[in-house]
Amino acid sequence: MAAIAISPERLLADLDTLRGIGRRGTGVVRPAFSPADLEARGWLAGRMREAGLAVAVDRMGNLFGLPPGDAPCLLVGSHSDSQPEGGWLDGAYGVIAGLEIARASLEGGGPPVAVVSFQDEEGRFCPLAGSRVWSGRMPLAEAEALVDLDGVRLADLDRLPPGIDAPAAVPHGRFRAFLEMHIEQGPVLDRSGERIGVVENIFGICGERLSFTGEQNHAGTTPMALRRDAFQGLARFATLLDARFTALAVPSTVWTIGHVAVHPNAVSIVPGRVDFSVQWRDADAARLAAMTQAMRETADAVAAERDLTLERSGFVTIPPSRCEPSLVAALADAAEALAPGAWRRMPSGALHDAANVSTLMPMAMLFVPSIGGISHSFDEDTDRADLVLGARVLARAVAAI
Ligand code: HGY
Ligand code: MN
Ligand code: MN
Repeated sequence: MAAIAISPERLLADLDTLRGIGRRGTGVVRPAFSPADLEARGWLAGRMREAGLAVAVDRMGNLFGLPPGDAPCLLVGSHSDSQPEGGWLDGAYGVIAGLEIARASLEGGGPPVAVVSFQDEEGRFCPLAGSRVWSGRMPLAEAEALVDLDGVRLADLDRLPPGIDAPAAVPHGRFRAFLEMHIEQGPVLDRSGERIGVVENIFGICGERLSFTGEQNHAGTTPMALRRDAFQGLARFATLLDARFTALAVPSTVWTIGHVAVHPNAVSIVPGRVDFSVQWRDADAARLAAMTQAMRETADAVAAERDLTLERSGFVTIPPSRCEPSLVAALADAAEALAPGAWRRMPSGALHDAANVSTLMPMAMLFVPSIGGISHSFDEDTDRADLVLGARVLARAVAAI
């Protein structure tokens, strides 16, 4: 098995350079298709070319670096777009690790490896939009009709990075399997002191955008009994939903109301409308479905009780997925070889593009610790030695696979 000798210095230097594009303090702001995101993708394309990879960007904006020839190969990567307030490693680490392994393998006469940075994994338009389109789970036309929270339509945005004149389709058949390197984004490895997580399964997610509409009115003259207060409706919904979900949940089940927009959001006006998001995640498809039913019943009940109009849109679901056991075994062997006793098998509570790619080909994932378990925050960070170790473990597994 020809080893793939990665360069830790080059890996870390590229990670630091990418951090500088869209940098905000210790984190990054690189929402999908933003100028910073496209600049980052243009820079990544340049690094791929310098590494001897052929660059292709598909019509959704997914960026691929393809090894010479047309032999079937492994695809390694993640995403380089960020949350509205993103960490410097979420996604970026998997893309740069993939790039480093692809070029080190090419340099050392190792197996052909392709690298990918999927677009809009973070869901500016919908969660994992780029890999959802590439995997065929969502028609491109449907993605182009999506609107972000500011009302911007995906169809109206430039999707090609600088230096890329035309999109190119990237067929699935070229790739034998997909491996995604990612930070854990949670507290498990940080608390256990282990340095590597070998992922066995990825949680599923359901999410929806909702709104309650009541009656905007004067905060001083409107008697409480006559109010149709949209915010109070949301407050009631959130309390009832928490009780309903808690009754259905197991310790690893999670749910979040992360986006709330109160209209008109003025101190002396009874809110007439509130727009909000709800998402819930679990490893079990049946529990997700039961939670969907409970969420809808609760929203309908509050609308009726409070005389509010309920609107729902943008329901999205990504089923739970399992990593390919033979790939998991290769990652576990590599982890035991390079971090004996300092690794564990674990689920991924976060979503990843690997979940969508799992419908096309075998996939698996590898984690390194997140300091303090923090992610989706400017404070996200990982020890640089762990970043290097993770890439070495992945490179060893790639060579074995
Ligand atoms: O939300 C997620 O799980 C992913 O980090 N976008
Ligand atoms: Mn991510
Ligand atoms: Mn993320």
